[in-house]
Amino acid sequence: MNSSLKSAASSGNSSPRAGLEARLVARPDGLPALDDFEIVEVTVPDPAAGQVLVRNLFMSLDPGMLLLMGGDSPLPAPRYEIGAAMYGDAVGEVIASADPSLSEGDLVVHRLGWRDYAVAAAAAFRRVDRAAYPSPSLHLGFGLVAYVGLMEAAQLRPGDTVFVSSAAGATGGMAGQIARLKGAARVIGSAGSPAKAAHLTGRLGFDAAFDYHDGPVLDRLREAAPDGIDVYFDNVGGEQLRAAVEVMNVHGRIAVCGALNRQRTARPDDGPGDLLSVLGKRLTIRGFTLWDHLDRAAEFGEQFRNWLREGSIVYDETVVDGLASAPQALLDLVRGRYTGKTVVRMGS
Ligand SMILES: NC(=O)c1ccc[n+]([C@@H]2O[C@H](COP(=O)([O-])OP(=O)(O)OC[C@H]3O[C@@H](n4cnc5c(N)ncnc54)[C@H](OP(=O)(O)O)[C@@H]3O)[C@@H](O)[C@H]2O)c1
Repeated sequence: MNSSLKSAASSGNSSPRAGLEARLVARPDGLPALDDFEIVEVTVPDPAAGQVLVRNLFMSLDPGMLLLMGGDSPLPAPRYEIGAAMYGDAVGEVIASADPSLSEGDLVVHRLGWRDYAVAAAAAFRRVDRAAYPSPSLHLGFGLVAYVGLMEAAQLRPGDTVFVSSAAGATGGMAGQIARLKGAARVIGSAGSPAKAAHLTGRLGFDAAFDYHDGPVLDRLREAAPDGIDVYFDNVGGEQLRAAVEVMNVHGRIAVCGALNRQRTARPDDGPGDLLSVLGKRLTIRGFTLWDHLDRAAEFGEQFRNWLREGSIVYDETVVDGLASAPQALLDLVRGRYTGKTVVRMGS
């Protein structure tokens, strides 16, 4: 099965510019199939007064997109409409502007991904510093998600032992490294293969890591954290959350960032486990979203750029080429094929 490529570019339109956009054509029940997507060539209009035209350079792929495809997304964001262009984080270059706030050549981040070109009111785009990072794709990183999850939701303290699930992914890889940089005494990660576990203790500098398929998670976590854990950065839910509750020390804190266990299969999760343990150990379980903490972006960005400059953080990224490859890449992402932040390089 393949997502189809067809042309919807109007032959009567005088604009010569055409680009691809991706649409959802059927609402999946669980993991989508490739033919739930359609890649369409569309005519790109010139910007009207107050608008700008942006050529996208990179777009983000993230598992939360699966929730926007389904019928009952819990996210504070509109779900994808059938037959309409999908959306998501992207970074691009202004190539025509009909608004004084942005100029040709500006680098901007915005939410109009899943298309080669974005045309919208200037307010939909935020100018970013071209020189901030070695590649514009780093503007799409999830370091800020990891940072606010640790600092706000988990109230990380120096000396904490921290456990991170989906630790080889975009958020998890950042969370483990940022926890260490912020004074964690021990950082433990779980991931979906022995190779990923080796990547965590090797390239990303985790103290211990395990493959969550390798027997009961509770046993693996107890081995990796003989003195218990103080913070759990939860990307997954399910068995890993229940194991973390069991292994947590008194006054432990759990930051619920994602629910990959559900996003992949759409089966209901069966909760955090033993609430008597939550009570007895006075645990905090706190969900968070990035959107509530955007005021910490500047503070994080400054630290992140310093860490990159001094080589104390590794930015792990997987780059996939071309919008036509994006539906397959999204499926590959949630099936665990990649490490780090997955982005699509547009226009190739
Ligand atoms: N709260 C917020 O504001 C916020 C913001 C951004 C993202 N998120 C959420 O945070 C989570 C992580 O996002 P991300 O972009 O960093 O994703 P990611 O970790 O890069 O996601 C992909 C990885 O998920 C893992 N995975 C898939 N199904 C799994 C399962 N059943 N159990 C365990 N691991 C599974 C796979 O790794 P393995 O090979 O290791 O299985 C895969 O490589 C997602 O749930 C996302 O929606 C939340």
